[in-house]
Amino acid sequence: MKKIGILTSGGDAPGMNAAIRAVVRTGLYNNLEVFGIMDGYNGLINDEFVKMESSSVSNIIQRGGTILRTARSKEFIEKEGREKAYENLKKHEIDAMVVIGGNGTFTGANIFIDEFDFPIMGAPGTIDNDLYGTDMTIGYDTAVNTVVQAVDKIRDTATSHNRLFFVEVMGRDAGFIALRSGIAGGAEDILVPETITYIDELIEILEKGFRKNKMSGIIIVAEGDDAGGAFEVARKVKERYNHYDTRVTVLGHIQRGGSPTAIDRIVASTMGHYTVNALLEGRRGEMVGIINNKVAYTPFNKAIKYNKGIRRDLLKMARILAS
Ligand code: F6P
Repeated sequence: MKKIGILTSGGDAPGMNAAIRAVVRTGLYNNLEVFGIMDGYNGLINDEFVKMESSSVSNIIQRGGTILRTARSKEFIEKEGREKAYENLKKHEIDAMVVIGGNGTFTGANIFIDEFDFPIMGAPGTIDNDLYGTDMTIGYDTAVNTVVQAVDKIRDTATSHNRLFFVEVMGRDAGFIALRSGIAGGAEDILVPETITYIDELIEILEKGFRKNKMSGIIIVAEGDDAGGAFEVARKVKERYNHYDTRVTVLGHIQRGGSPTAIDRIVASTMGHYTVNALLEGRRGEMVGIINNKVAYTPFNKAIKYNKGIRRDLLKMARILAS
């Protein structure tokens, strides 16, 4: 193996740059040539390869986003797109590749490995933390901290005005951001896609608080909650329970940006480093994760298919601690 490629794909996540830095520098340390591929899988198809030197990744460990940019490539879903991608890899004599991304990224990588017998290793980069085979994904810790900072600010105004806030956080299919930020922000309740939301139950919690003279509160709602987003949940609550003055805040894409936390930088650096080591050892088709502080390898199909599952005991704990 002489030349490797690296790309970031799917939604960007703080820490992706730290992972790119780790891949490039580990590659160079092992006398490999490293090529950055721009715009995710689109760059493979459109032949956007950039030779990376050690200086190409200077001063990026602290930066959010991804210097290689990213995309959710529609063309790579088609066989024709993947064939073009393979031709370009051959043209540049790339022997193996590291992909950093989430579910969609690994699904694409898996198909590509099968079709072209091409070695790929992956690092989990998504704020959602919804991949099996790792305790944390790159970007998750930063996103949670961003939410907590926002919730603290919202609590100031909620308390001053005696208002009930519904704060919507990201997570189409997973409630990890909601759960951790809800615990850290002392939320009155946390609504996640993994559990059924009963508006009656939520109202009961609010009423209990109201009887204790709790006049304000914060409910964290994951965007993919089955009861709807924060606007819908607020409407349903208001319809049946009119005591509170309600407001809704949708945090949106601020959760995807910003300088990565120390934890994300360390997680990303470790994962990036071990993806290259793994390729050198002849591994392929696996995601490098960290489980109980140890590097762990999980086949792409398992990482995508299996559900890490949310800690329901922590959801219960959060309610108790906020009561
Ligand atoms: O997968 C990461 C994520 O941030 C989800 O939490 C969110 O639902 C989605 O991406 C938003 O995607 P986009 O930026 O393409 O609208």
